[in-house]
Amino acid sequence: MVILKSPNEIEKIRQSNVIVAEILEILQQEVEPGTNTMELDQISEELALDSDAKPAFKGYRGYPYSLCASVNQQVVHGFPSKHPLKEGDILSMDFGISYQGYYGDAAITVPVGKVSPVAQQLMATTKEALFSGIEQAAPGKRLSDISHAIQSRAEAVGFSVVRQFVGHGIGKALHEDPQVPNYGKPGLGIRLKPGMVIAIEPMVNAGGYEVKTLDDGWTTVTKDGSLSAHFEHTVAITEEGPVILSAANGSQ
Ligand code: MF3
Ligand code: CO
Repeated sequence: MVILKSPNEIEKIRQSNVIVAEILEILQQEVEPGTNTMELDQISEELALDSDAKPAFKGYRGYPYSLCASVNQQVVHGFPSKHPLKEGDILSMDFGISYQGYYGDAAITVPVGKVSPVAQQLMATTKEALFSGIEQAAPGKRLSDISHAIQSRAEAVGFSVVRQFVGHGIGKALHEDPQVPNYGKPGLGIRLKPGMVIAIEPMVNAGGYEVKTLDDGWTTVTKDGSLSAHFEHTVAITEEGPVILSAANGSQ
């Protein structure tokens, strides 16, 4: 069941997501060769607690950390590690909190120093795919219009979208209905209405779309070892169209 939010609730979800966006911005500034992602996990947790927010992922279905830190061929749910990042890596950081009863959730992928042209193109394409999806998050459209826009953008340059993980409704729970796939034919699924709030989160692989989860039960990698990028925004559907709630200063 999709839970519609009042303008007042959307404002609260925005406040939660602005905290997430600001924390991701700070983490991004810490990313350089030699940084380890365990430090980033600690910083994310401290910054959340300093903002009177609770990290949303830690303890969620047993996930052991505040931050998901997925390097190179890791797609999502990578465990923070003491292993230092090196020049040329790409790092996906997915972070969520709850703040005054409402959840925030967003993700970015950033370069570590100078990265290869294909890594750059992968990150740029994944972000563009996210924004193509966001454009479709308007009243009167259908859910799979978002999915289709994302898939088309990613596949236009020969990349592939992960099928096994999807975006989601968000509000008083981290994961609400509807599921938001990153692939599909247009014009299908529920009709989008003002008051819906969804996290749109394409994961795009440089190679094939298949992924596998490692023995730790979380870390998910591409089956073919190709690079993967992940961007996520929490978005409200309003009468005026899509509004990105997880933007640090009304931008991004
Ligand atoms: N953005 C991801 C999601 O919505 C992050 C979840 S990590 C988890 O599923 F640990 F909380 F599962
Ligand atoms: Co999410």
